[in-house]
Amino acid sequence: MVAPTRSDTLSDSWRDGIFNGKVVFCTGGAGDICSGQVRAMVFLGADACIIGRNVQKTESMAKNLAASRPGAQVLGYGGVDVRDYNSLQSAVDRCVAALGGIDFVIAGAAGTFLSPITSLSPAAFKAVVDIDLVGSYNTLKATLPALEKSASKHTHDGGRTPASGTGGRIIFISATLHYRGTALITHGSAAKAGVDTLSSCTAIEFGPRGITSNIIAPGPIAATEGTMRLMRLKRGENPMKGIPAGRWGTVKDVADATIYLFADTGSYMNGTIIVVDGGHWRTHGANDNADFPYPNFLLSRNITGVGDAKL
Ligand code: HXC
Repeated sequence: MVAPTRSDTLSDSWRDGIFNGKVVFCTGGAGDICSGQVRAMVFLGADACIIGRNVQKTESMAKNLAASRPGAQVLGYGGVDVRDYNSLQSAVDRCVAALGGIDFVIAGAAGTFLSPITSLSPAAFKAVVDIDLVGSYNTLKATLPALEKSASKHTHDGGRTPASGTGGRIIFISATLHYRGTALITHGSAAKAGVDTLSSCTAIEFGPRGITSNIIAPGPIAATEGTMRLMRLKRGENPMKGIPAGRWGTVKDVADATIYLFADTGSYMNGTIIVVDGGHWRTHGANDNADFPYPNFLLSRNITGVGDAKL
């Protein structure tokens, strides 16, 4: 994989070096969206630890990310499942030992597939809730001590940016599916609703200690695994439907929102949700897939056959 350039990754508005000496810890960091978020941070000076289940994919993405900036350290810890608290905790400990701390966290690991409730076993529902929601909780729990330490070193009173910059911030990656409700993704929607609440509670409970907790909710982001899975697209296929902005989102759009929340610009952002979707969720786009004309497909006799199993 050729490493994307700076202007492929983030907008020119951001100043180089704003995250010098800082460390970002990211679950799901080898994925399409989270790797873009981490790459943007690396371009602006951060070192990083990315965590993933697939060893080869995680390690090779870490190398690719490190190539974005001379001298950048990006560690890739594969074989780590966010459902396994002990393995996550050990990855956090290794990251702190190797890079000196954790200033920013992106809880991005997620998994989902299309399935009607009739075909969704209790184990399948639980698998997605465990990855998306329990995994986000585990990530928060394991990184909180490091976040508290960073927040106490980088306090911000709303005046001039402290010379030491910002720290002690977490972003959870959520979705917009649950705002209106979305057929065939009950498991993912319920999990992401929980993630939103997890972030709000964190903001209230840890705001007084200088930590900020926010959500980024990406909409249809072109050429990402999540979008292709949920919208049944093939790589390269990029239809534009129901998006008021008139285009699909890019990973760069999500990276810019990430920088905004982690940089000085985001110092008073806490307990909020940034939806990066071009206005998509406000239209009927989410339930208006041509493959699934609503409500006809739900009323057809073949409903149990609708889902990834038949893709
Ligand atoms: C119905 C399915 C299924 C499918 C798995 N299951 N896939 N049921 N349709 N397509 C069922 C299995 O039969 C099993 O239930 C249960 O789910 C657990 O399956 P496992 O394969 O053992 O689980 P696991 O290996 O942990 O896999 C997790 C997974 C899988 C989420 C189910 O899809 C996965 O690994 N996905 C990772 C990649 C991924 O999803 N990337 C998308 C990221 S983007 P039984 O009853 O048989 O035991 C993204 C965007 C989110 O997530 C947007 C908002 C939601």
